[in-house]
This record gives sequence, C-alpha cells and structure tokens, in this order.
Amino acid sequence: MVNKELILSAEGKCDNHRVDHSIRTMYFGRRVFELELANAPEEIRRNPDFFVQALDWAAVLHDREMSVTEKYDFDHGKKAANRVDEIIGEVASLEVKEMVKFLCVFHVPDDSEITGLSETQAWILKVFKDADSLDRVRFDNGDKLDESYLRFGSSRGLIEEAKELWERTKTMTEPEAVFDAIFENRVE
Ligand SMILES: [Fe+2]
Ligand SMILES: [Fe+2]
Repeated sequence: MVNKELILSAEGKCDNHRVDHSIRTMYFGRRVFELELANAPEEIRRNPDFFVQALDWAAVLHDREMSVTEKYDFDHGKKAANRVDEIIGEVASLEVKEMVKFLCVFHVPDDSEITGLSETQAWILKVFKDADSLDRVRFDNGDKLDESYLRFGSSRGLIEEAKELWERTKTMTEPEAVFDAIFENRVE
C-alpha cells in the first residue's frame, strides 16, 4: 500500500524534476519491475514487496535536492540520500531506507562508472534507472530519451506509454493530483 507520507514527499525544486517527474518515475519503476520480475535475482523474487517499496521511495526522493542554480548537480543523489532518514522516519524499515539511499546515490553516475555491485543491487538499480530514463520523453534536447540506453527490453515497450503519461500530467504540480491521475487508485 502506498502511504500518504510517500506521495507528499515528492517535491522537486528544479523545473525539470518536479513532483510530476517523481510520480511518473514511481509508476515506471513498478511497471518495469513487474515485467522483469520473473528474471530477477532470487533475493528479489522472494521478497518483491520490499524492493517495490524501496523503488517507490527512491522515485519520490531521488531528485528533490537537485540544485536549481548549477548546470548539472552531480551531488543531488548523495544529497537526497542524506535526507532519507529524516524524511522517511519510521514509515519504512531500516533495510528499506538503506536500499532507498543506495538507489538515490547510484542513479546519478553513468553505468560504466559503477562497479562492485551485488547481483541484487545491479538488477534493482537497472530497474530504477530505466524508470527514470523513460521519463526523458519529456525532454526535447540533449537529455531526451535514447532508447538504446534503456537496460531492459520491456522498458523499450513502455516508451509510448511514457509519452502519453507525460502529456497527461506535465502541468500538474500537486503530488496527490499527479498520483491519482497516474495510478487511479490501482496501487495496492
Ligand atoms: Fe537525478
Ligand atoms: Fe529523475
């Protein structure tokens, strides 16, 4: 079940990374996760709810500390991770919060710069990065979606859906409004 604290913590400062981006990333995190779960490492297949919870929180928190002044704020993932304990509090377990911090920190560096991850970490990070990347359909510049960078085949199948969601929610600014528009109470 998605709790209200989670939805309301979606609050971005930077124009391209506002609430609507967070909630769409949350949606695509869940979509890619479901589509790829059968091929996930056993640790994830055994406890999917744990990983969906971490993906949800990471989606709403990962970009909220992005600087509005710097050209590209390479530290925004670390800054988000540093606020995880304070924002989530007791709403999620210590283990979930650790996974959320991991996703926040590692969503920033390029795949080629990331080494030494466990199989589970590598898989869940790929899901999160594809979810975040799918919302690049909102850009029409050098940041726009390049589908060859998507990590899972099923992510490529979600591109049209990503465009449709972007059109439908791009002007929304209230977390609950975006959430309702995307999930239509379908989230368990
Ligand atoms: Fe980011
Ligand atoms: Fe993002």
